[in-house]
Amino acid sequence: MLILGIDTSCDDTSASVVRGGKEILSDIVSGQERIHKKYGGIVPELASRRHIEMIWPVVNEALVEASITSTDLSAIAVCHGPGLIGSLLVGCSFAKALCYAYRIPLVAVNHLEGHIFSCFLERRVDELSPLERRGSPEFPFLSLIVSGGHTSLYRVDGFGKYRELGRTRDDAAGEAFDKVSKLLGLGYPGGPVIERYAHEGAPGVVEFPRAYLPENLDFSFSGLKTAVSNYLRKEEHISLPDICAGFQQAVIDVLVKKTEWAVRGERIKRVVLAGGVAANSALRGRFHLLAAKRSLEVWIPPKSLCTDNAAMIAAAGYHHFRHGETSDMELNPMAYLPL
Ligand code: KG4
Ligand code: ZN
Repeated sequence: MLILGIDTSCDDTSASVVRGGKEILSDIVSGQERIHKKYGGIVPELASRRHIEMIWPVVNEALVEASITSTDLSAIAVCHGPGLIGSLLVGCSFAKALCYAYRIPLVAVNHLEGHIFSCFLERRVDELSPLERRGSPEFPFLSLIVSGGHTSLYRVDGFGKYRELGRTRDDAAGEAFDKVSKLLGLGYPGGPVIERYAHEGAPGVVEFPRAYLPENLDFSFSGLKTAVSNYLRKEEHISLPDICAGFQQAVIDVLVKKTEWAVRGERIKRVVLAGGVAANSALRGRFHLLAAKRSLEVWIPPKSLCTDNAAMIAAAGYHHFRHGETSDMELNPMAYLPL
């Protein structure tokens, strides 16, 4: 069963062909960093215009690289939210038009569900480090989604069976990386550049607060961002590497601690880390340490499948399709779409 996945939820135009919900035949991502960099963040109107330009070339490349034609496809899975409404609209309209023209079913996928299902995609042997687990996790498992728009812990009991255990009350973890990067004048996106600087610094030199919110599994990162801003205002001589290392460590400490609490509370020893921030090597390393300390099984997709991609949409779409869950042409994108 071949599914074409499409994701245009934010600033990446992506299309992918996946066989059987697991095997990636192609995964094309056209990013827009160059366009938004000078504004220090994503400009929604520019993002949707660029999606319009790129959607057909990206989908076409995905089909060509997979060496298939439209007649080989079983269905098209498209992300219909959450995300930027103008961006989502491009992917949804395009997917609907293709389904109509090719006479194949349309499947709607929640972006967060896509991130969760990224761990079901097969990896090449050369993508696996000795610490990484092969195969896909059995249910139930816990999933920590850390992206630019979300920081949420889910209990996943099966396909379509998700229970949110905690979520951010303000900024998402990736958003905190992006905002702190802007404060430091390091540009957008913040995650990769802060990680690079942090690698040169020492985490203990500049201490930032951690909001553990001990009463539940929610997260809060806006206080941390304010602490960095106050530090910059007060200090005359600053070391970018040490600030980045201190900030990154504070985010990671909270993410790891809350996951540990969820493992204890739910008595589940399988954990999946997903979303753009999961591309952070220090965070990946700490999750492997946690796995060793608590005898957990931890799955972290390769970095290219942590940041936004359409293979994860095709993977989740495969399960919807198998369960007969298809959409009609009335499908509308939704900026706010809880899982
Ligand atoms: O999942 P994603 O590609 O898009 C959303 O669904 O939001 O996540 C993007 C976020 C951005 O905030 C970006 O700064 C962050 O992921 N990110 C990282 C790293 N790479 C991307 N954060 C920390 N370290 C990284 N290496
Ligand atoms: Zn995402």
